[in-house]
Amino acid sequence: MASKEDFFEHIEKGYSTKGDFITMGAAMLNGEAINSALVKVPLKTLNRHGLIAGATGTGKTKTLQVLAENLSDKGIPVLLMDLKGDLSGLAQPSPGHPKIDERHAKIGIPFEPKRFPVEILSLSEQDGVKLRATVSEFGPVLLSRILDLSETQEGITAVIFKYCDDNKLPLLDLKDFKKVLQYATGEGKEEFTKEYGRISTSSTGTILRKIIELEQQGADLFFGEKSFDVNDLTRIDEEGRGYINILRLTDIQDRPKLFSTFMLSLLAEIYDTFPELGDSERPELILFIDEAHLIFNEASKALLDQIESIVKLIRSKGIGLYFVTQNPTDVPNEVLAQLGLKVQHALRAFTARDRKAIKLTAENYPLSEFYDTKEVLTSLGIGEALISALDEKGRPTPLAATLLRAPMSRMDILTENELKDVIDSSKLVKKYGEVIDRESAYEILNEKIEKAEELAKEEKEEAQTKRRTSNTRRSTRQNPVIKVLTSATFIRGVLGVLKKVMR
Ligand SMILES: Nc1ncnc2c1ncn2[C@@H]1O[C@H](COP(=O)(O)OP(=O)(O)O)[C@@H](O)[C@H]1O
Ligand SMILES: [Mg+2]
Repeated sequence: MASKEDFFEHIEKGYSTKGDFITMGAAMLNGEAINSALVKVPLKTLNRHGLIAGATGTGKTKTLQVLAENLSDKGIPVLLMDLKGDLSGLAQPSPGHPKIDERHAKIGIPFEPKRFPVEILSLSEQDGVKLRATVSEFGPVLLSRILDLSETQEGITAVIFKYCDDNKLPLLDLKDFKKVLQYATGEGKEEFTKEYGRISTSSTGTILRKIIELEQQGADLFFGEKSFDVNDLTRIDEEGRGYINILRLTDIQDRPKLFSTFMLSLLAEIYDTFPELGDSERPELILFIDEAHLIFNEASKALLDQIESIVKLIRSKGIGLYFVTQNPTDVPNEVLAQLGLKVQHALRAFTARDRKAIKLTAENYPLSEFYDTKEVLTSLGIGEALISALDEKGRPTPLAATLLRAPMSRMDILTENELKDVIDSSKLVKKYGEVIDRESAYEILNEKIEKAEELAKEEKEEAQTKRRTSNTRRSTRQNPVIKVLTSATFIRGVLGVLKKVMR
């Protein structure tokens, strides 16, 4: 049997880092924490993404909390997708507990209760900073993916965006998009055919149906203004701590399509907005997605491809994505293969399927001369996990069963009043609170249709009185007057579209 000294040395060597790092806890041998054998994750490789997995009640959410706190302490902002609403406690210090003191004595690091700067975000009617995006910003490619459109339908969607671009029609919400779609095969049929070719009514009909389906999941709350500036996710407070942005998603758990729409648009927007970093010593922003199986289970093949490619690309912008889920097999293999940090809590071995999952999971970890990985996977206690990270050179660190540190903030949720205080004192809530309904494609097209109808009526009357219409007058009148909108948001939207079209 391996000696404690050998093991200590193994961990010390494998987890030593020159740069800054986060301490996760102490490594364990034969179920016992080895004091001061610290498991450390370098900030440098945190943009290489990660996974927190394990059965219910084994400590996944607390691990997420510990990571978020320590990132914030290092001045790194965080975005948490809180599907169960159990992370708000980050805004209050831990009340402490003898068990926590015991845990930290075993690990060999002090326990320091603290609160963290928290911002509450929302995708729906719930209180908090409203996250919205315009259809223009969303772009034709993403919209097609999310609606699961065929190639022909995707082509039509691209034409609709192009038409709006050419004619300066802002596409703000889904109402705008539906209007242009109807116009293309209705009143505007001639104009469209001349400029872009014939558009089939059956295709626009299908697209319309799919949009209505998306609306039924509440997507109309998400599309519109004022659109969220992703730079607001990277705020640092006066004490130099990164903001912890908690997106409360308790009310959209049963609406996976809306959730994946949002996720994908957010990732695309971050990808578009953040500068290329190259080799950086620390990440810019870390995203945690709790209950991540929700975005993967219902996603179409096209959507999965899109997620996979964004996961690959976004890391050069210093963005790390962390998936939290019960079973590693919930995450597609192509995504799993790209994850740098793996925190595996205990798995249960009730059924044959469970045992198969355990075998598969064990095979995904580096071999260790100190552990039987399969055996450790089923015997870990609560708040303990197998960890494998990437060292500063990008090599896997030694596998370490770890007694994890406790969250410095409250493990329980905020009271109603505490939550209200956080929301009331937020600057961002005010910034994004106002509902704007600017003149956009819907209104402009309606006006245009009305004018065309008026014109047709007039012409009919004129013809009836047999008065000749002068050619010049006719041609100016037939040119629809479209307002040129030059607001900053519109320009930003168009640029977004162009970038996304070109990709
Ligand atoms: N790192 C930890 N330090 C102290 N207690 C922990 C830790 N991790 C888990 N626990 C305890 O276990 C409970 C369940 O953890 P939780 O993270 O909610 O599980 P999961 O998200 O996997 O269902 C917590 O309420 C807490 O009491
Ligand atoms: Mg949980």
